[in-house]
Amino acid sequence: MSFTEELKRRRTFAIISHPDAGKTTLTEKLLLFGGAIQTAGAVKSNKIKKTATSDFMEIEKQRGISVATSVMTFDYGGKKINILDTPGHKDFAEDTYRTLTAVDSVILVIDCVKGVEEQTQRLMEVCRMRDTPVIVFVNKMDREGKDPFDLLDELEQTLNIKVRPITWPVNMGSSFKGVYHMLEHQMNFFKINKTKLEGDVKKILLDSPELDKSVGDKDAAQLREDVEMIDAIYEEFDENRYKTGEVAPVFFGSAVNSFGIKELLDTFCDISPEPIARTTDVREVLPTEAKFSGFVFKIHANIDPRHRDRIAFLRICSGTFERGKFYKHVRLGKDMRFSNPYMFMADSKNVVDEGYPGDVVGLYDTGNFKIGDTLTEGEKLNYIGIPSFSPELFREVINTDPLKSKQLEKGVSQLAEEGVAQLFTMQPGNRKIIGTVGELQFEVIQHRLLNEYGASCRFESKPYSKACWITAADPEKLNDFIRLKSNYIAYDKDENPVFLAETDWILRMNKENNPDVIFHTSSDFK
Ligand code: G4P
Repeated sequence: MSFTEELKRRRTFAIISHPDAGKTTLTEKLLLFGGAIQTAGAVKSNKIKKTATSDFMEIEKQRGISVATSVMTFDYGGKKINILDTPGHKDFAEDTYRTLTAVDSVILVIDCVKGVEEQTQRLMEVCRMRDTPVIVFVNKMDREGKDPFDLLDELEQTLNIKVRPITWPVNMGSSFKGVYHMLEHQMNFFKINKTKLEGDVKKILLDSPELDKSVGDKDAAQLREDVEMIDAIYEEFDENRYKTGEVAPVFFGSAVNSFGIKELLDTFCDISPEPIARTTDVREVLPTEAKFSGFVFKIHANIDPRHRDRIAFLRICSGTFERGKFYKHVRLGKDMRFSNPYMFMADSKNVVDEGYPGDVVGLYDTGNFKIGDTLTEGEKLNYIGIPSFSPELFREVINTDPLKSKQLEKGVSQLAEEGVAQLFTMQPGNRKIIGTVGELQFEVIQHRLLNEYGASCRFESKPYSKACWITAADPEKLNDFIRLKSNYIAYDKDENPVFLAETDWILRMNKENNPDVIFHTSSDFK
């Protein structure tokens, strides 16, 4: 296959959802349809049931053995599909945000009973920043959920995106009869079915009497009325507007019953974007360019202290990545080669000789990589758009073993490079402030510092609630502000100044009183 053919068949995406909406179940069903796994239950849920460190550690251990779950690759309908896994737990949302920088589209799973939930909203905000194309899958239609029209309204209002249903449910809950495909004019009949893949699909035109025969007069009439209403309210589905992130096609189904998945997957293969152009600090890079480039969006630590190597996940953005060839690590200005790059199948990982745009390769790392690092064939450019967002909890790291201060320093900075949490340094005294979105991250850090670095620490709460990256057109004005507010200024991992605000009100006052200073809510402001 030529480079262009390889490129055109790549589809790289992530499934996002609020925990429990059915992301794991849907992932598994997609893999089953793709023939990548043979039985249900093969995909390990990365869900953290209890908010206990031991539970998290146990899961990390399992994942360490099978890092394959980070990326799942399979072939379907002539396409090579890469699903990038995202952690379900809200405390690890930052990890998900970063993974979203490495995909070309997403499938959003909504629980029809609960509708749009908090985590859905946040994840979608990140997708909206980049206009990532979204397909919505409304799951659990075998349960009594919200009215489908209300759900569509809710999606539009809370997620700031237009929607267009492609399939439409006939009833729900115990009387759920199936979905009607509005573009293909066929009815897919629902059966409670946890093992079989293909459902019973019949081509039935809406005005055909056969519809009344198969779903009953009342439901047939309701379906005709609904479809008429949909056509009146929603614009015809436009693939281009999906690709620009303006309109999200919506599917209804039941993942656990393998129902509605085939329609979703077929449409996904038809319309989802192939690898797209990406922005760097110098220029836009097209996937079709002959020279290889890519960036690291995730680092997976081996938490076994005897094997401290890590795996850096690199998204290929242009050209062909080749095993054993020298590439430039732009930040370090160093040439590096990788003799054992991995690619991931559903339940295994294999050494690969080459990879194409859209692919993710796992590179063994002995500490050279930070999240966001770029590799090229020599050109000096850095992929941008891997933002950090303001943490919600801030604590200072206090060393409790003076003999191990070097280990602590090293551990804290390595964990920050891995993206476990954000690290801010405050002067005087080089004080280390860790920022997280959840309690669990602190427990993980403490546990890992002790187990992997032999360093012990405690955390002292800090009263901040928001971190804002600050810039100003006039460097003097920025310096004035930094001097004036030195007690509230810290520096992030890239030495960018950050203002730590105790309350929203304080932040607002500072913005008003310092109109020359710009306050950014994410680090991605260049
Ligand atoms: P997540 O990854 O988004 O957190 O969700 P996950 O797939 O783990 O699904 C959450 C729960 O919802 C699971 O039940 C799963 O079986 C159930 N589920 C998924 N799809 C459907 C569906 O279409 N209909 C119904 N009724 N339930 C669905 P659980 O009790 O938490 O786990 P399990 O013991 O059943 O695996």
